[in-house]
Amino acid sequence: MPERDAAPGDEVAAPRHVAIIMDGNGRWAAQRGLPRVEGHRRGVEALRRTVRAAGEIGIAYLTIFSFSSENWSRPPAEISELMGLLRRFIRNDLAELHRNNVRVRVIGERVDLDPEIGRLLQEAEDLTRANDGLVLVVAFNYGARQEIARAARRAAEDVAAGKIRPEAITAEALALYLDAPDVPDPDLIIRTSGEQRLSNFLLWQAAYSELVFVPTNWPDFDRTTLENAITEYCRRERRFGGLIARTGS
Ligand code: FPP
Repeated sequence: MPERDAAPGDEVAAPRHVAIIMDGNGRWAAQRGLPRVEGHRRGVEALRRTVRAAGEIGIAYLTIFSFSSENWSRPPAEISELMGLLRRFIRNDLAELHRNNVRVRVIGERVDLDPEIGRLLQEAEDLTRANDGLVLVVAFNYGARQEIARAARRAAEDVAAGKIRPEAITAEALALYLDAPDVPDPDLIIRTSGEQRLSNFLLWQAAYSELVFVPTNWPDFDRTTLENAITEYCRRERRFGGLIARTGS
Protein backbone atom coordinates (compact mmCIF):
# COMPACT_ATOMS: atom_id res chain seq x y z
CA MET A 1 0.00 0.00 0.00
CA PRO A 2 1.48 3.41 -0.87
CA GLU A 3 2.39 5.54 2.15
CA ARG A 4 0.37 8.70 2.66
CA ASP A 5 -0.17 11.29 5.35
CA ALA A 6 -2.27 10.12 8.28
CA ALA A 7 -5.81 11.39 8.04
CA PRO A 8 -8.27 12.06 10.87
CA GLY A 9 -9.99 8.84 11.84
CA ASP A 10 -7.08 6.63 10.74
CA GLU A 11 -6.54 3.66 13.04
CA VAL A 12 -3.04 3.57 14.51
CA ALA A 13 -1.79 0.08 15.26
CA ALA A 14 -1.90 -0.83 18.95
CA PRO A 15 1.59 -0.86 20.44
CA ARG A 16 3.48 -4.11 20.01
CA HIS A 17 5.91 -3.29 22.81
CA VAL A 18 4.93 -1.36 25.94
CA ALA A 19 7.56 -0.50 28.57
CA ILE A 20 6.64 0.77 32.03
CA ILE A 21 8.53 2.76 34.66
CA MET A 22 6.62 1.66 37.76
CA ASP A 23 6.94 4.73 39.98
CA GLY A 24 5.18 6.08 43.06
CA ASN A 25 5.08 3.11 45.43
CA GLY A 26 6.59 5.17 48.24
CA ARG A 27 4.19 8.08 47.70
CA TRP A 28 1.22 5.74 47.55
CA ALA A 29 2.22 4.38 50.97
CA ALA A 30 3.02 7.80 52.47
CA GLN A 31 -0.39 9.15 51.42
CA ARG A 32 -1.94 6.35 53.49
CA GLY A 33 0.40 6.58 56.47
CA LEU A 34 1.84 3.16 55.60
CA PRO A 35 5.49 2.07 55.44
CA ARG A 36 7.13 2.27 52.00
CA VAL A 37 7.38 -1.53 51.83
CA GLU A 38 3.59 -1.73 51.79
CA GLY A 39 3.67 0.39 48.61
CA HIS A 40 6.11 -2.06 47.03
CA ARG A 41 3.95 -5.04 48.08
CA ARG A 42 0.89 -3.45 46.50
CA GLY A 43 3.13 -2.67 43.52
CA VAL A 44 3.63 -6.39 42.96
CA GLU A 45 -0.16 -6.82 42.83
CA ALA A 46 -0.35 -4.04 40.23
CA LEU A 47 2.35 -5.85 38.28
CA ARG A 48 0.31 -9.10 38.28
CA ARG A 49 -2.78 -7.19 37.05
CA THR A 50 -0.77 -5.45 34.35
CA VAL A 51 0.85 -8.62 32.99
CA ARG A 52 -2.60 -10.23 32.78
CA ALA A 53 -4.12 -7.14 31.08
CA ALA A 54 -1.23 -6.85 28.61
CA GLY A 55 -1.77 -10.46 27.54
CA GLU A 56 -5.51 -9.92 27.16
CA ILE A 57 -5.07 -6.71 25.15
CA GLY A 58 -2.69 -8.50 22.79
CA ILE A 59 0.53 -6.64 23.57
CA ALA A 60 3.44 -8.77 22.40
CA TYR A 61 6.22 -7.38 24.62
CA LEU A 62 5.93 -5.82 28.09
CA THR A 63 9.09 -4.42 29.69
CA ILE A 64 9.03 -3.45 33.38
CA PHE A 65 11.65 -1.41 35.24
CA SER A 66 11.77 -3.44 38.44
CA PHE A 67 15.13 -2.44 39.96
CA SER A 68 17.51 0.16 38.61
CA SER A 69 21.29 0.29 38.90
CA GLU A 70 20.72 3.44 40.95
CA ASN A 71 18.30 1.78 43.40
CA TRP A 72 21.30 0.37 45.31
CA SER A 73 21.60 3.80 46.97
CA ARG A 74 18.34 3.20 48.88
CA PRO A 75 18.43 2.18 52.56
CA PRO A 76 19.59 -1.45 53.01
CA ALA A 77 16.26 -2.48 54.57
CA GLU A 78 14.32 -1.26 51.50
CA ILE A 79 16.77 -2.98 49.11
CA SER A 80 16.39 -6.21 51.01
CA GLU A 81 12.58 -5.87 50.87
CA LEU A 82 12.69 -5.31 47.08
CA MET A 83 14.97 -8.36 46.65
CA GLY A 84 12.59 -10.40 48.79
CA LEU A 85 9.64 -9.28 46.65
CA LEU A 86 11.44 -10.30 43.47
CA ARG A 87 12.31 -13.72 44.98
CA ARG A 88 8.69 -14.22 46.06
CA PHE A 89 7.37 -12.97 42.71
CA ILE A 90 9.44 -15.54 40.84
CA ARG A 91 8.74 -18.36 43.31
CA ASN A 92 4.98 -17.70 43.52
CA ASP A 93 4.17 -16.45 40.03
CA LEU A 94 6.57 -18.22 37.70
CA ALA A 95 4.44 -21.36 37.38
CA GLU A 96 1.37 -19.28 36.52
CA LEU A 97 3.28 -17.14 34.01
CA HIS A 98 4.51 -20.36 32.41
CA ARG A 99 0.96 -21.81 32.34
CA ASN A 100 -0.16 -18.62 30.60
CA ASN A 101 2.51 -19.09 27.91
CA VAL A 102 4.46 -15.99 29.05
CA ARG A 103 8.15 -15.92 28.12
CA VAL A 104 10.33 -14.16 30.70
CA ARG A 105 13.45 -12.29 29.58
CA VAL A 106 15.82 -10.39 31.85
CA ILE A 107 17.92 -7.35 30.99
CA GLY A 108 20.47 -5.66 33.24
CA GLU A 109 23.81 -6.49 34.85
CA ARG A 110 23.94 -10.04 36.26
CA VAL A 111 27.53 -10.00 37.47
CA ASP A 112 27.74 -9.24 41.23
CA LEU A 113 24.07 -10.06 41.81
CA ASP A 114 23.23 -12.14 44.85
CA PRO A 115 23.76 -15.71 43.52
CA GLU A 116 20.29 -16.85 44.55
CA ILE A 117 18.64 -13.95 42.70
CA GLY A 118 20.83 -14.70 39.68
CA ARG A 119 19.73 -18.36 39.77
CA LEU A 120 16.04 -17.45 40.03
CA LEU A 121 16.24 -15.04 37.08
CA GLN A 122 18.00 -17.72 35.05
CA GLU A 123 15.40 -20.30 36.07
CA ALA A 124 12.58 -17.98 34.94
CA GLU A 125 14.24 -17.53 31.54
CA ASP A 126 15.05 -21.23 31.12
CA LEU A 127 11.60 -22.52 32.12
CA THR A 128 9.73 -20.17 29.79
CA ARG A 129 12.17 -20.14 26.85
CA ALA A 130 9.87 -22.05 24.47
CA ASN A 131 6.71 -20.05 25.29
CA ASP A 132 5.35 -17.95 22.44
CA GLY A 133 2.82 -15.72 24.23
CA LEU A 134 3.51 -12.35 25.89
CA VAL A 135 7.23 -11.64 26.33
CA LEU A 136 7.77 -10.14 29.80
CA VAL A 137 11.11 -8.33 29.83
CA VAL A 138 12.21 -7.75 33.43
CA ALA A 139 14.73 -4.91 33.72
CA PHE A 140 16.57 -5.84 36.90
CA ASN A 141 19.76 -4.18 38.16
CA TYR A 142 19.29 -2.24 34.93
CA GLY A 143 20.65 1.11 33.78
CA ALA A 144 20.60 2.17 30.13
CA ARG A 145 24.00 3.88 30.14
CA GLN A 146 25.49 0.76 31.74
CA GLU A 147 23.80 -1.40 29.06
CA ILE A 148 25.23 0.78 26.28
CA ALA A 149 28.68 0.67 27.93
CA ARG A 150 28.44 -3.16 28.11
CA ALA A 151 27.54 -3.25 24.42
CA ALA A 152 30.48 -0.98 23.53
CA ARG A 153 32.82 -3.17 25.60
CA ARG A 154 31.64 -6.38 23.86
CA ALA A 155 32.03 -4.75 20.45
CA ALA A 156 35.53 -3.53 21.42
CA GLU A 157 36.42 -7.08 22.48
CA ASP A 158 35.32 -8.37 19.07
CA VAL A 159 37.40 -5.67 17.37
CA ALA A 160 40.43 -6.55 19.52
CA ALA A 161 39.96 -10.22 18.65
CA GLY A 162 39.90 -9.34 14.96
CA LYS A 163 36.30 -10.58 14.51
CA ILE A 164 35.00 -7.24 13.18
CA ARG A 165 36.53 -4.06 11.80
CA PRO A 166 36.04 -0.76 13.72
CA GLU A 167 34.27 0.78 10.72
CA ALA A 168 31.70 -2.05 10.87
CA ILE A 169 30.39 -0.64 14.18
CA THR A 170 27.34 1.25 12.93
CA ALA A 171 24.30 2.04 15.07
CA GLU A 172 22.61 -1.11 13.76
CA ALA A 173 25.67 -3.24 14.52
CA LEU A 174 26.12 -1.84 18.04
CA ALA A 175 22.43 -2.49 18.80
CA LEU A 176 23.13 -6.20 18.33
CA TYR A 177 25.37 -6.09 21.42
CA LEU A 178 22.61 -4.75 23.72
CA ASP A 179 21.10 -7.04 26.37
CA ALA A 180 18.07 -8.24 24.34
CA PRO A 181 18.84 -7.36 20.70
CA ASP A 182 15.97 -9.42 19.30
CA VAL A 183 13.31 -7.52 21.28
CA PRO A 184 11.87 -4.68 19.15
CA ASP A 185 12.16 -1.11 20.47
CA PRO A 186 9.26 -0.03 22.68
CA ASP A 187 6.46 1.75 20.82
CA LEU A 188 5.12 3.21 24.06
CA ILE A 189 6.85 3.99 27.35
CA ILE A 190 4.58 4.73 30.31
CA ARG A 191 5.79 6.32 33.54
CA THR A 192 3.46 6.42 36.50
CA SER A 193 3.24 8.86 39.44
CA GLY A 194 3.44 12.06 37.36
CA GLU A 195 7.25 12.15 37.03
CA GLN A 196 8.31 13.06 33.50
CA ARG A 197 11.78 11.56 33.03
CA LEU A 198 13.32 8.41 31.58
CA SER A 199 15.73 8.00 34.52
CA ASN A 200 18.29 5.90 32.63
CA PHE A 201 15.65 3.48 31.26
CA LEU A 202 16.03 2.10 27.69
CA LEU A 203 17.80 5.25 26.45
CA TRP A 204 18.96 3.60 23.22
CA GLN A 205 15.69 1.80 22.51
CA ALA A 206 13.53 4.88 23.32
CA ALA A 207 14.77 6.87 20.31
CA TYR A 208 11.33 6.86 18.65
CA SER A 209 9.10 5.70 21.50
CA GLU A 210 6.01 7.65 22.42
CA LEU A 211 6.20 8.70 26.08
CA VAL A 212 3.02 8.80 28.14
CA PHE A 213 3.12 10.07 31.72
CA VAL A 214 0.21 9.20 33.96
CA PRO A 215 -0.50 10.73 37.38
CA THR A 216 -1.51 7.37 38.91
CA ASN A 217 0.88 5.93 41.49
CA TRP A 218 2.00 2.44 40.47
CA PRO A 219 0.04 0.47 43.14
CA ASP A 220 -3.20 1.91 41.67
CA PHE A 221 -2.30 1.04 38.05
CA ASP A 222 -4.77 -1.30 36.38
CA ARG A 223 -6.16 -2.37 33.02
CA THR A 224 -8.10 0.89 32.58
CA THR A 225 -4.98 3.01 33.19
CA LEU A 226 -3.11 0.89 30.67
CA GLU A 227 -5.89 1.17 28.10
CA ASN A 228 -6.08 4.96 28.57
CA ALA A 229 -2.32 5.25 27.95
CA ILE A 230 -2.71 3.13 24.81
CA THR A 231 -5.57 5.36 23.62
CA GLU A 232 -3.29 8.39 24.07
CA TYR A 233 -0.56 6.58 22.12
CA CYS A 234 -3.03 5.80 19.32
CA ARG A 235 -3.92 9.50 19.07
CA ARG A 236 -0.32 10.43 18.35
CA GLU A 237 1.14 10.53 14.90
CA ARG A 238 4.45 8.70 14.62
CA ARG A 239 6.86 10.10 12.05
CA PHE A 240 10.20 8.36 12.84
CA GLY A 241 12.02 11.52 11.76
CA GLY A 242 10.43 11.52 8.32
CA LEU A 243 7.52 13.43 6.87
CA ILE A 244 5.12 10.58 6.44
CA ALA A 245 3.34 9.01 9.38
CA ARG A 246 3.80 5.30 9.70
CA THR A 247 2.15 2.95 12.12
CA GLY A 248 3.59 0.13 14.20
CA SER A 249 7.32 -0.49 13.98
C1 FPP B 1 9.22 2.96 42.42
O1 FPP B 1 8.55 3.41 43.54
C2 FPP B 1 9.30 1.53 42.30
C3 FPP B 1 10.44 0.77 42.46
C4 FPP B 1 11.73 1.30 42.93
C5 FPP B 1 10.51 -0.63 42.17
C6 FPP B 1 9.32 -1.24 41.51
C7 FPP B 1 9.03 -2.43 42.24
C8 FPP B 1 7.83 -3.04 42.30
C9 FPP B 1 6.65 -2.65 41.54
C10 FPP B 1 7.65 -4.17 43.22
C11 FPP B 1 8.73 -5.17 43.09
C12 FPP B 1 8.52 -6.09 41.97
C13 FPP B 1 9.51 -6.86 41.52
C14 FPP B 1 9.22 -7.93 40.53
C15 FPP B 1 10.91 -6.64 41.99
P1 FPP B 1 9.33 4.41 44.49
O2 FPP B 1 9.77 3.64 45.69
O3 FPP B 1 10.42 5.08 43.76
O4 FPP B 1 8.20 5.41 44.84
P2 FPP B 1 8.38 6.94 45.26
O5 FPP B 1 9.04 7.64 44.12
O6 FPP B 1 6.98 7.37 45.49
O7 FPP B 1 9.21 6.94 46.51
